[in-house]
Order: sequence, then C-alpha cells, then structure tokens
Amino acid sequence: MSTDERIQILLIEDEEFDVRRVRNTLRPFDHQIEIRDVVSNGDSAIELLEQHHEHYDVVIMDLQIAGGTMGEALIRAIKRIEPSRQIIVITKMTVNITDFDFANRILQAGAFWYCTKYPSDIEDYIYQPTDFILSIFNAYQRKRLESEKSRSEKKLLRNVEGMLSRTKILGVSEQIQKIRAQIKQLAMTDATVLISGPSGTGKELVAINIHYESKRKLENFVTINCGSIPDELIESELFGYEKGAFTGANANKRGLFEQANHGTIFLDEVAELPLVAQVKLLRVIQDGEIEKIGRTREKVKVDVRILAATNKVLQQEIAAGRFREDLFYRLHVVPLYAPPLKERPEDILVLWEHFMRQMSIDMIRPTPTTEETAFDVLKRYDWPGNVREIKNVVQRLLLREENIITPEIIKEVLSLHPTSHQYTDSNAVFFQDSENVPSLREMEGIFRKKYFTFVRKHSSSDAEAARKLGLAPPNFHRMCKELGLKS
Ligand SMILES: Nc1ncnc2c1ncn2[C@@H]1O[C@H](COP(=O)(O)OP(=O)(O)OP(=O)(O)O)[C@@H](O)[C@H]1O
Ligand SMILES: [Mg+2]
Repeated sequence: MSTDERIQILLIEDEEFDVRRVRNTLRPFDHQIEIRDVVSNGDSAIELLEQHHEHYDVVIMDLQIAGGTMGEALIRAIKRIEPSRQIIVITKMTVNITDFDFANRILQAGAFWYCTKYPSDIEDYIYQPTDFILSIFNAYQRKRLESEKSRSEKKLLRNVEGMLSRTKILGVSEQIQKIRAQIKQLAMTDATVLISGPSGTGKELVAINIHYESKRKLENFVTINCGSIPDELIESELFGYEKGAFTGANANKRGLFEQANHGTIFLDEVAELPLVAQVKLLRVIQDGEIEKIGRTREKVKVDVRILAATNKVLQQEIAAGRFREDLFYRLHVVPLYAPPLKERPEDILVLWEHFMRQMSIDMIRPTPTTEETAFDVLKRYDWPGNVREIKNVVQRLLLREENIITPEIIKEVLSLHPTSHQYTDSNAVFFQDSENVPSLREMEGIFRKKYFTFVRKHSSSDAEAARKLGLAPPNFHRMCKELGLKS
C-alpha cells in the first residue's frame, strides 16, 4: 500500500482526550492509515459523509457522544449513505463486555466491530493496539469487497435492463397484453411454465422475459433445444457425468442443470426429449436432485427454475406414448399459449413498423415507407412463420434497398405471385429475364428454403422434419438458421 492509498478514517469522538488516544494508537501505522477528519457529533459526520462520501473508507465512532444523532441511529444513518462503508464502534468502559444483547444490537445496526475503551489512566492507547489496527485493516478489506460486489451487481443489472429492452414483447392485441401480464405475475414465482404455440410466435422470447423479470435475473439463463441434440447425448448434456462413467469420459462433466443452478433452464422443444431423459427430468422436478451418469455417491442438489416450450400438442404425444403423462402434469403447472399472428392480425402492423424502423437503423439506412395499400396485403397474408417471418421479410426488403414498399413488392417478396426467376408453387421454374440470370447458389438457396419450409409445415416438430429430410438434428438446425427459417 503506497502512502497516497492510505486507509482514510473519519473519527467521531467528542472527548479531546480520547481523540488523542486514538491518534496515539494509530501513529505507528500512519504510513498506512490516515485520520482524515475528526468531528465531535453525529450530525456533522452525516453532513461530511453526504458531501464527500468518497473521502472515507472506515468510520471510527464513539457510541455515546453528546447531542444530535448518536448510537445505533447514527450507525444506521451512516450505512444508509453508503452500505459498503465499515464502522468500528468504541464504547465507554461502563458497558459490560459480556452484555451480548448490547453487542448484538450494534452489529445488527450495521457496525463491523466494536471495542471498549481502556481505562482513562492509559494515555497511549484507546484499546489493545494490534486488535484495533487489525480490525481497521479487515474493515477496509470488507469495504473493498462490498463495493466491488455492488459495482458488479449494478453492472449486471444494467445488462439485464439492456437485455429486457432488446427483448420487449411487442403487440397491441388482447392476447399479447394478457401474455405480458402473465409474465409479470409468473416472474414473482418459481413456478414451472409450459409455453406452447406455433413456430415463430415468441415462445423463447416469453421464456427470456420471465427469467429476466424474476428474482433469478442475475443468475444463469440456460437454454437447450431438446430437438437439436442426438438422443444418446441429451442425458449427459442435461445432467453431466462423472469421470470414468463410460469409455471416453476422461473428466467430470457439469450438466446444464448444474450450470443453471440458482437460475433458470429453458427446455425448448421439450416434446423431443427421449423417454429415458423424461424420467430423469421428472426426478429433478420432484426432488431437486440430478442423477449424473456414473455417479454412485449422493445425488447432486440443484435449485433450478424450469421453463419449457413446445409447438406440439403434448396431450397427443401422451396418447401416442411418446411423452410421459406424469411429466406433462409437472410441466403444465402454468400453461401459457403464444397464439399465431393470424389470430391477432392487429399485431402485424405494429411488428412490421417496429422491425422496419429498428432494422433499418441497425443497417444504417433510411427507413422505407410502406404504402397504405401494402398494409392490406400484410394483414391478409397468413404468416405461417409468424413473427420470425415478419422479421425475415423486413430484412429481405431492406437488403433490396427499396424506399417505398408497394403491394407488388410485398407480394413478390412473400412469393405470392411468380417472378422471372422463382421456384413457384406450381413447381415450375420460369427463366424469362436473360439479363439477370440468377447464380446456381442463389437458385439452390431458393429451392432449399422452399423445400425446408414445405417439410417443416408438414411435420409436427423440427426433429420429425429433420428425420424426413434425412439430416441429423444439429445439421438441420444449423441449415434452418442459415436459411433464415430459425433465429
Ligand atoms: N411479440 C413479439 N415482439 C417482438 N418480437 C417478437 C415477438 N414475438 C416474436 N418475436 C421475435 O420473433 C422471433 C421468433 O421468436 P421466438 O424465437 O421466441 O419464437 P418461438 O416461438 O420460440 O419459435 P420456434 O417454435 O420456431 O422455436 C425472435 O426474433 C423474436 O425476438
Ligand atoms: Mg423457439
């Protein structure tokens, strides 16, 4: 510690003799500790701390001073100004040192440590010097740790606020207003929530909002897409394994439940969970314990809030023997339904205008104007890909650098009528414009996108779509992302 980093003390003491004794005690350490100011009453101390709160690290205060704020009330007032500041209390000899009630009250009020003054015939010390000095050093360390902690918590809170402003759930329909109200309520509880609804309706967005509005907001939010991980790996992803559990298990692996401890886990596409993993999940929900593969010792306790989403009707999955009924009831504690856009057409224009503005700002270009008659096309369209599709269409339009969006342009982008080089619904390809021959890659992209959209539309889940396409789920997931079908 260099001299200009000395621990700064504010001393509150009304008796000259005791001020001298504190100075004498600290003198051998004046290269590390400095008494910056001395005041004789509580009100002046509060004033100083309010005006120059960054000047002092530790307050040393006599408990029984004359006039104004004193005693426990003074301790509380000092802590209110800056909770990380530490207070050392010195009391008169008359206090019985075995009075635990008294000690407790001082510490409860917020003091870090307290000591009883030496008898008044001792002029050199206020208290046993080693203990006194050590307590100042410890108080200083505690102050640094606490202000560090509060700084990083403030930073995290700012991040959470930023996160929430980027993931606002927009819309004016009654259904969306109800969802927003439900999220607020659910955020105050630890209830398991099952979010259902068609693709692209905002199920993940709902889960994110529940977590970041809840008291767990500073803890981890862990997402797993149960449909994008091969069956044989899902258990080790969720619950982890112990070293030596199977060939290749060279070290312990923490599962996602452990990573989400104290926070929230979001099980996306939960219907795709294999039955074995469903049994284990049920046990986590019932007992709060995870079964790590290969662990023979006691089970690992976790405190994790579970949110799950599906675009399937789970009751049908139960009937088909693919989903456990007991797990369904555990997940279905609070059901939340994200309706498709065609059931809430009044949200279409709000979302359209929002994404137009937001994404054009992101792309640093002027926001195009959408013609009134174009709005009619938007409202009449079915939006099978829901909000995600609106986002994609807006992005495509912005890339075309149109300034005025006409109904024709929208129809073209939505592939509502064939253009010179599009793969049309009648499965015919027209090449009329010999000037603008599309590249092979472009054509392949158009084909893939149509094909993927078609197969997804006729599958009840992404896992099923992947199976039909003969792709491994992770590859299917990645390709959907590349094609802009998933975010
Ligand atoms: N009400 C809304 N307001 C703003 N953005 C939204 C809204 N609903 C969805 N979005 C956006 O649309 C996209 C798709 O949403 P999300 O991923 O949450 O849908 P999903 O229901 O989980 O879809 P899937 O079933 O395909 O996984 C995201 O970019 C999301 O931010
Ligand atoms: Mg999703």
